[in-house]
Amino acid sequence: ARSSRRLGAGRKPCALLRAFLRAERMDRIELLRPADWHLHVRQGEAMRAVVPASAAVFAQALVMPNLKPPVTTTAAALAYREEILAAARAAGGRAASFVPWMTLYLTEATAPQEIDRAVDSGAVLAAKLYPAGATTNSDAGVRRIERIYPVLERMQQRGLVLCVHGEVVDPEVDIFDREAVFVEGVLAPLVARFPGLKVVLEHVTTAEGVAFVREAPETVAATLTAHHLRYERNAMLAGGIRPHFYCLPILKRERHRRALVEAATSGSPKFFLGTDSAPHPRGAKESACGCAGCYTAPLALPLYAEVFEAAGALDRLEGFASRFGACFYGVPESTERIALVRRPWTVPAAVPLGEGEEVVPLRAGETMGWVVE
Ligand code: NCD
Ligand code: ZN
Repeated sequence: ARSSRRLGAGRKPCALLRAFLRAERMDRIELLRPADWHLHVRQGEAMRAVVPASAAVFAQALVMPNLKPPVTTTAAALAYREEILAAARAAGGRAASFVPWMTLYLTEATAPQEIDRAVDSGAVLAAKLYPAGATTNSDAGVRRIERIYPVLERMQQRGLVLCVHGEVVDPEVDIFDREAVFVEGVLAPLVARFPGLKVVLEHVTTAEGVAFVREAPETVAATLTAHHLRYERNAMLAGGIRPHFYCLPILKRERHRRALVEAATSGSPKFFLGTDSAPHPRGAKESACGCAGCYTAPLALPLYAEVFEAAGALDRLEGFASRFGACFYGVPESTERIALVRRPWTVPAAVPLGEGEEVVPLRAGETMGWVVE
């Protein structure tokens, strides 16, 4: 209201000017402690090394199950959960109250009874569909979707959310088209076949994906990563190949990035925060055949804030980061508050990953404009 008064009655300020006027007066924003609805924390020493960075900022997170071996049973998920809880407690401070929610890894051998066990545990919120071969540790995933129809039926009955890695694996399909082809050819029919099944299109990266989710029934939502909101493919490929920007789904062109930003800042509760922070040892990334995954946990919230600020939508960050996901999953949002403060800091060049390894975070050695207090 204030900005339109300044500009005179009846004049609507353009988005850029609005962004400028808002940014000018906001050096500190408070929000409910956020939640990360798509997080990889690995296992063993690496897990203990990376859990504190997420737990220090996020109140809760949905932990991905693509371990070696994959987390295919409720028993394995609960054991993994205990290890994560112990790592968070050991970190102390705010991290000690971190709540990890677990995800089952669906295979063609998953039994419907496993879905019952997952729901009854109270700690598993979702099961994940990895098309076999689509991404890191997805080989045990699903080759023919019909094979998991009985499991999806049970998930629909019991209200367990289906998280989807939304890319086809057909080598004939160009890597930049794999999400759009999946959305049209696999996801749309799936949603039509299971109208009561709650589905999250994970790390959506395309205008087509966003449009599908927006127009789909309320049962369908999507997570958005900070890196797909902030970068397009030139960050990875222009002026030298930068393996730390390589992730799946792969960064797309600018037109898609804009569609993602529009969705994230739209205020629609169908779009919420999921970092897909995915640490790999430096050597596995800086390689002739580098692994997919960007490690963003230590800078994720400041990176989202950067994107929301550039879009003139900092006032919509809290819904996206702290409320909509919890609402979709039917769990309480945090009641604590945190502050994002405008103060520059430098992302470390690397952070320890256990066993003598290190991981290079996104934006390593570069400056962030927002810090979490
Ligand atoms: C993830 C990983 O490394 O586990 N990699 C990635 O590029 N996003 C897996 C995934 O979510 O696809
Ligand atoms: Zn992921």
